[in-house]
Amino acid sequence: MKLLILNGVNLNLTGKREQDVYGGETLEEINAQLQAYAEQHGYGIDCFQSNSEGELCSQIHGAEGQYDGIVLNAGAYTHYSLALRDAIAAVKVPVVEVHMSNVHAREEFRKKSVLTEVCKGEILGFGKNSYLLAMESFRL
Ligand code: DQA
Repeated sequence: MKLLILNGVNLNLTGKREQDVYGGETLEEINAQLQAYAEQHGYGIDCFQSNSEGELCSQIHGAEGQYDGIVLNAGAYTHYSLALRDAIAAVKVPVVEVHMSNVHAREEFRKKSVLTEVCKGEILGFGKNSYLLAMESFRL
């Protein structure tokens, strides 16, 4: 099994921004832990982050035939990117939406995701473990 861990806008600042919400570990540190976990359980992951909506769409297009699934934290694009929604709907590779924070316990605008309807499922509120739980969902 091979999974793509896809992080969107501002996730490159993880560990630096709003540490009370997203924790103090950098995205590189989290990705290294995900990598080790996947290896331990006999599968592979590739990690990619971009602040560009178009690049994220291209990654989703390119995942077809290359990956068994995508774990996607689109950041704020979650709440309004119809381009990402259409990209997810356009491919057969299943996507699990992830958020580190509990978006339902925060500002009103975070309660709406335009992606969830076209995703296989959604995991949120468990910090960096949201990524691990999403990865695990592909093994069940
Ligand atoms: C986030 C939640 C989003 O609302 C926010 O814009 C992010 C991170 C999360 O992981 O909790 O950038 O996706």
